[in-house]
Amino acid sequence: MTKFFVYITAAIAALAGLLFGYDTGVISGAILFIKDQFQLSSRIVENVVSAVLFGAVIGAAFSGALADRFGRKKVLIVTALLFSAGSTGAALAASVPAIIVFRFIIGIAIGVASYTAPLFISEIAPPDKRGGLVSLNQLMITCGIVVSYLVDYILTMGQNEWRWMFGLGALPALILLCGMLALSESPMWLISKRRVEEARLILKKIMPEQKIEDEIKSVKASLSVKAGTWKDVMAPWMRPAIFVGVVLAFFQQATGINTIIYYAPTIFEFAGFASHKVSILATTGVGLVNVLMTIVAIWFIDRLGRKPLLYIGLAGMTLSLSILGLAFYLPGMMESLKIITVLSVIFYIASFAISLGPIFWLIIAEIYPLNVRGRAMSLATLSNWAFNMAVASTFLTLTEKLGKAGAFWFYAVVCIAGIAFCRLYVPETKGLTLEKIEDFLKKSKGLKAFGALK
Ligand code: BGC
Repeated sequence: MTKFFVYITAAIAALAGLLFGYDTGVISGAILFIKDQFQLSSRIVENVVSAVLFGAVIGAAFSGALADRFGRKKVLIVTALLFSAGSTGAALAASVPAIIVFRFIIGIAIGVASYTAPLFISEIAPPDKRGGLVSLNQLMITCGIVVSYLVDYILTMGQNEWRWMFGLGALPALILLCGMLALSESPMWLISKRRVEEARLILKKIMPEQKIEDEIKSVKASLSVKAGTWKDVMAPWMRPAIFVGVVLAFFQQATGINTIIYYAPTIFEFAGFASHKVSILATTGVGLVNVLMTIVAIWFIDRLGRKPLLYIGLAGMTLSLSILGLAFYLPGMMESLKIITVLSVIFYIASFAISLGPIFWLIIAEIYPLNVRGRAMSLATLSNWAFNMAVASTFLTLTEKLGKAGAFWFYAVVCIAGIAFCRLYVPETKGLTLEKIEDFLKKSKGLKAFGALK
């Protein structure tokens, strides 16, 4: 039986996922008001939206090293402080550059948290609960996004909307801070720092007494395999796994998810919705579908497998983006455009939520050998944020250059390439032990064989 302590720990650490979702989602509504108040051009709007992402890239780059050096707990405490300071600062900002700076600080916190929180949860969770808890993090991200949309919706009724939208993010950050102060450090990290006595006390709260000594032994044994260096990460036999992690990060982002998450209300206004309020309401519906379909994904992931879900999801995304493009392309569609846009966006988000959303984060937690897992995972996380930033900071320019229809068709073509990539190179990890995957990689059978693994 899993002890209550484990659930409390996971719930508190997952607040970092909630903040990830809240602070990335909140911009979609806030940007409408900031743009009006400061009369911003598309270029500056993109900068305000991307400031968080730029910070996240920097945060993710250092997250592995920081979490190994100072421990998961301290790093998450500092992250919570950064979240609170950034949210308060952004809420009180007097100018657009100040908003950008504070959103950048929030971004650093998100980048660090997006790696450290799942790592911390997975180290505290018993092996048979690990898979579910990894995807729980994605669920929390989607919950954070929908909460941010709801807050955006409610606040459109008041004054100083965008300030409150940013400021309210400080609340979960403070809860995360108090919670993390009360939690124990990861026992694995403590053992790795030779603080075995402290680790033993914590393990008592996590597992039955008779299993503790075995656990300490097996963690010590896995640590005796020399901790991998960057050279090990880049070793020829690791390349298929590195390639899959980084390219899957590319497809998770370049298929356009965050143009919907950050710009959905803007897209609805393109489609002819006149008021900010109605656009944000439609966006809240989109966020809810994201949460619900993530729950569906969690149910199917270990039953159907990863690859079938990726095919279904990517096919749905291709279809909805093509229709969205068509709706913007055909003239004289003004009234029906609204409804087609809303339906396509909902179908698109549902397709993402049952596939690339949770599966990217799950696969990168599964395919890397233990001794290089930290570094390899942070490389994939870093790539994810870098691609995210590249897409978000070019979306509005892309719609100006290719037209709105062209932009959506562009993402549709990337989805089709994504299907081919998954078919050829992504391994089916359903039901495989992590040791089997590691063994397979070590036998160096190459990228194509890795993709055929099941
Ligand atoms: C992605 C985010 C995205 C979110 C949407 C996550 O898996 O990494 O970029 O905003 O899903 O639900």
